[in-house]
Amino acid sequence: MTAPETAFITGANGGIGSALARKLSAAGTRLVLAGRNESRLTALASELGVKGLVCDFTKPEQVENCVNGALFELGTIEAAAHCIGSILLKPAHLTSIEEWRSTIDTNLNSAFYLLNQLGRPMSKSGGSIAFVTSAAAEKGLSNHEAIAAAKAGVAGLTRAAAATYAKNKLRVNCVAPGLTDTPLAAPITGNESARKFSEAMHPLGRLGTAEEIASALFFLLSPDNTWITGHSLCVDGGLSSLQTK
Ligand SMILES: NC(=O)c1ccc[n+]([C@@H]2O[C@H](COP(=O)([O-])OP(=O)(O)OC[C@H]3O[C@@H](n4cnc5c(N)ncnc54)[C@H](OP(=O)(O)O)[C@@H]3O)[C@@H](O)[C@H]2O)c1
Repeated sequence: MTAPETAFITGANGGIGSALARKLSAAGTRLVLAGRNESRLTALASELGVKGLVCDFTKPEQVENCVNGALFELGTIEAAAHCIGSILLKPAHLTSIEEWRSTIDTNLNSAFYLLNQLGRPMSKSGGSIAFVTSAAAEKGLSNHEAIAAAKAGVAGLTRAAAATYAKNKLRVNCVAPGLTDTPLAAPITGNESARKFSEAMHPLGRLGTAEEIASALFFLLSPDNTWITGHSLCVDGGLSSLQTK
C-alpha cells in the first residue's frame, strides 16, 4: 500500500501510536511525532530519526504550538493520526465528575483541539486525518458510559468534519478498536480472569494487537484510499457487530 509522504502522529509513544510510527517510517513517510511523555517520545523519535514534540493535548495553546512545529518541520501535513486516549470502566453512578471531565478532555476535547488547528492548513493541501474511537462508541457495553460518550463524540466529530472538508479533498475517518493489547489495556490484560473474559467477548476469541490497529490507520491514511471519508472502521474481532451465542 502506498504510504503518505508526510505524517503527524499524536500519542506517538503509546502502543498504537508507536506501531503506526514504525509502520509509516518503514514505508518511507517523513514523520513528526507528538507525545506527552518526554523520555519515551525522545527514545522513539531518535530510534526513527525524526522530530518529537512534547505536548499535552488537553491544553489548546500547547496543541497550537505543536501543530505549528509539525508544519514547520514537514511543510505540508498529508496525513495525521490522533492516537491519544484513556480508558475508564465504571458505571455512571460510580464515576466521579473529575473522572468524567478527564475522560472527555483526553479523548474528545484533544481530538477537537487537533482538528481545530489542522483544519485550516489541511483544507488547503487536502489529505487524510484518522481518529481512534472505540467499539464502545458502536455498541452499548456496560460500565463504559464516560468513555463511550467521549468516543461517540469523536465519531460524530469525524463525520461532520468529513462533510465539511470533502470539498477540500481532506478525508476524515476513524478506527474503532476492540480491546487491544497495549499499555492502556494493562489493568485488564494483566489480570488472567479479566483477560480471558475479555477475549471471550470478542467473536474471534482474542484481543487485538497494536499492529492490527496501526494497519487500519495506515489504510485510511494511504493515498490509495482517497474514496473513503466519514467512515468508522471497526477493528474489533467482531465485538461491535456480531453475536455468536
Ligand atoms: N488499547 C485498547 O484496548 C483500546 C481500545 C479502544 C480504543 N483505544 C484507543 O486507541 C488509542 C491509542 O491507545 P493505546 O491503546 O495505544 O494506549 P496507550 O499505549 O496508553 O497510548 C495512549 C497514548 O495517549 C497519550 N496521552 C494520554 N493523554 C494525553 C494527553 N493529554 N496529551 C498527550 N498525550 C496523551 C499517552 O501518553 P503518556 O504515555 O504520556 O501516558 C499514551 O502515549 C486511544 O485513543 C485509545 O482510546 C484503545
